Amino acid sequence: MQKTTLITGGAGYIGSHTALSLIDAGHHVVVLDNLCNSCHESIERLEHLTHTRIEFVEGDIRDTPLLEAIFSHYDIEAVVHFAGLKSVANSVCQPLDYYANNVVGTLNLCQIMARFNVFNLVFSSSATVYGDPPKTPIVEDCGTGTPASPYGRSKLMVEQLLTDLALSEPRWSIALLRYFNPIGAHESGLIGEDPNGKPNNLLPCLTQVAIGRIPQLTVFGNDYPTFDGTCVRDYIHVVDLAEGHLKALQVLREDHGIHIWNLGTGIGYSVLQIIRSFEDVTGITIPYQVAPRRAGDIAQCWADASKAQRDLGWCARRNLAQMILDSWRWQSSNPFGYRHQAELLTAIAR
Ligand code: NAD
Ligand code: UD1
Repeated sequence: MQKTTLITGGAGYIGSHTALSLIDAGHHVVVLDNLCNSCHESIERLEHLTHTRIEFVEGDIRDTPLLEAIFSHYDIEAVVHFAGLKSVANSVCQPLDYYANNVVGTLNLCQIMARFNVFNLVFSSSATVYGDPPKTPIVEDCGTGTPASPYGRSKLMVEQLLTDLALSEPRWSIALLRYFNPIGAHESGLIGEDPNGKPNNLLPCLTQVAIGRIPQLTVFGNDYPTFDGTCVRDYIHVVDLAEGHLKALQVLREDHGIHIWNLGTGIGYSVLQIIRSFEDVTGITIPYQVAPRRAGDIAQCWADASKAQRDLGWCARRNLAQMILDSWRWQSSNPFGYRHQAELLTAIAR
């Protein structure tokens, strides 16, 4: 049987880009996704880009019999685990959904992995586990903080669960990848970020203003202790992020235990710099208004990504202009994301 990498959440934004990188690198993959925040169209586009048929299972990581069937059917050697809920705002209103999906879902997945002797796991964590960091750039061993939301706390809980697991059994090789702010899209413009409903993150908001779906951008706060008063973040191209997963999988084959890597560029940009850069790259003027600070936002956050460079031989290669160009190519060629415009208009008319 062919060695296979299971990608949970592989129909989603980061998962689909990672599936593409893994397939391009010669991995045989199977994607498991319940499509609660994605659609089958992303899988079809992956098939178009890779000229292969993607093995896709529609289902939930909490469905134990389904996971048993997948692990029995395929010779799984590693799992790249993206499946989870990610909206900070929704997590405040529906904390149980977030803990059930992100924490219980991961627990269930690990139990099945152990039962089938699969011990290589790459987990999608977030810089949110640092809370409000004591200093920037952030190094992995600065300690975790207090995440500001149930979403963030679910990520921290899973990190703790996986750390305990790796300590309990030396065969586990686990990577906790702490993403900074993923943006951009594959250069083909065929796959990208397709948030359900109103977006919360900066880049989807910005591109939706540019396309005319949102009248103007709201800048949350211009009185932060940063050089221009707006928040500073480390934006990273999603394809660079995807390549980080490939490198992590390679290293996990040899290095057992728990590993933590920041995946960021090491460069921070303010909200106003992002707006200006978007205007320079696309030639489109972005109307915006300054509003009060958004609850839970920290002033600034960027990575020290030198550990990933040392251990994985990985660093982000795409600059901000490339990230913005690719975000814009995706949004402008798919104004309504993966959903076809006609279908959407029919749905609205109903
Ligand atoms: P996404 O919502 O586009 O992808 C997640 C995918 O998981 C979706 O396709 C969804 O349908 C699926 N899914 C959710 N719950 C599931 C379940 N119980 N069973 C099976 N499938 C399920 O999100 P993304 O931006 O691609 O994020 C991927 C991972 O990275 C998430 O765990 C997220 O928390 C984490 N992360 C994302 C960011 C970011 O800014 N996008 C930052 C840090 C960490
Ligand atoms: C957010 C989450 C974080 C999560 C990450 C990825 C919060 C507090 N944090 O990070 O937990 O891991 O997304 O999903 O929600 N901004 C605007 N106007 C907008 C949107 C954003 O000014 O319309 C600003 C924000 O105030 C922030 C910056 O842009 O300063 C980046 O925001 P966003 O893209 O939401 O990412 P984070 O808040 O860094």
